[in-house]
Amino acid sequence: MQSGRSAAPVVAIVGATGAVGIELLGCLERRNFPMSELRLFASARSAGKTLPFRGKPLAVRELTEDGLNGVNIGLFSAGSSTSKRFAPVAVSKGAVVVDNSSAFRMDAGVPLVVPEINPASVREHKGIIANPNCAAIISITPLWPIHRTNRIRRLTLSTYQAASGAGAAAMEELRESTRAYLDGREYRNTVLPHPYAFNLFSHNTRIDPATGYNEEETKVIQETRKIFGDSEIRVSATCVRVPVLRAHCVSLTFECERPISAAAVREILAGAPGVKLVDDPEKNYFPMPKDASGQDPILVGRIRQDLSDPSGHSVAMFVAGDQLLKGAALNAVQIAEQLL
Ligand SMILES: NC(=O)c1ccc[n+]([C@@H]2O[C@H](COP(=O)([O-])OP(=O)(O)OC[C@H]3O[C@@H](n4cnc5c(N)ncnc54)[C@H](OP(=O)(O)O)[C@@H]3O)[C@@H](O)[C@H]2O)c1
Repeated sequence: MQSGRSAAPVVAIVGATGAVGIELLGCLERRNFPMSELRLFASARSAGKTLPFRGKPLAVRELTEDGLNGVNIGLFSAGSSTSKRFAPVAVSKGAVVVDNSSAFRMDAGVPLVVPEINPASVREHKGIIANPNCAAIISITPLWPIHRTNRIRRLTLSTYQAASGAGAAAMEELRESTRAYLDGREYRNTVLPHPYAFNLFSHNTRIDPATGYNEEETKVIQETRKIFGDSEIRVSATCVRVPVLRAHCVSLTFECERPISAAAVREILAGAPGVKLVDDPEKNYFPMPKDASGQDPILVGRIRQDLSDPSGHSVAMFVAGDQLLKGAALNAVQIAEQLL
């Protein structure tokens, strides 16, 4: 995007019909994002469909190189291969691309941004800005204000990831397989590798034989280091897909350089951007996907001292965040707002 441009930008959503794309439309509308034009792109399958925006139906077009002419901001959410092919094209035509896929996240010249954590990195872009992995965003947004106060040197986390993280088709598979299970019908899963109804399984990404970690876990580990700008932070992750339609949860245990109490963590998080405390031990009320769904903030609770560390340096907590919003669309639109 050319600097000094005064008119409202032409914005394109690539992957507009997907689980994230629909939320991108919602975020642009809700946040009243200034635009002179909004173009919606998807695959040839969706050409001719319409999606509602600001009270009117907007046509979805098949993504082509020519369609990107004149685009100032491209919000890409159509998978890595589409991003690899079309994001450089959009950039060559003058656009800045905010990319939701994993295609460019670990590239040295590509900022990986969570606006609550490293907003200044946006200015270092060379045309592409990467939106981090959804489990990474949900996990580390609440950790950052703690890390700034008392450096986290070690983090262990386990995720409880919803169907929506695998896209619209996975959400449909969860709905359909649950109906079939309750009706006593056979169901053949085609989107995810294992039966999903009343089941859970290790994240459906390839395991690296060298480490034993799957790709999702590796992304969380590497992206945490890049976003925090701290290559020394020690992270171990276990990523699991659970039969929840929307919103990821994460159990986090972290060890700080200096002693830290649960009360201190609660106090830090009470005023932190992008998070909301839901921490009521008396009522046993803590973050749940049901409450996080459709919400911008990441819910944080179950904040307690880690009893396995008698030195008092470690705290455990539990978070829930809508990964279609803060884990994807909202974070991307927040980044785009910084480009205005
Ligand atoms: N779901 C999440 O929570 C989440 C979070 C962070 C990042 N992401 C990333 O965001 C991207 C989209 O995820 P999603 O969950 O929204 O997936 P999805 O529901 O499966 O949607 C995929 C979108 O990409 C479009 N598309 C597919 N192939 C295309 C092509 N060749 N050309 C143009 N458009 C194409 C689809 O269009 P059709 O409808 O026409 O097929 C659809 O709009 C992925 O890279 C994913 O890794 C997802």
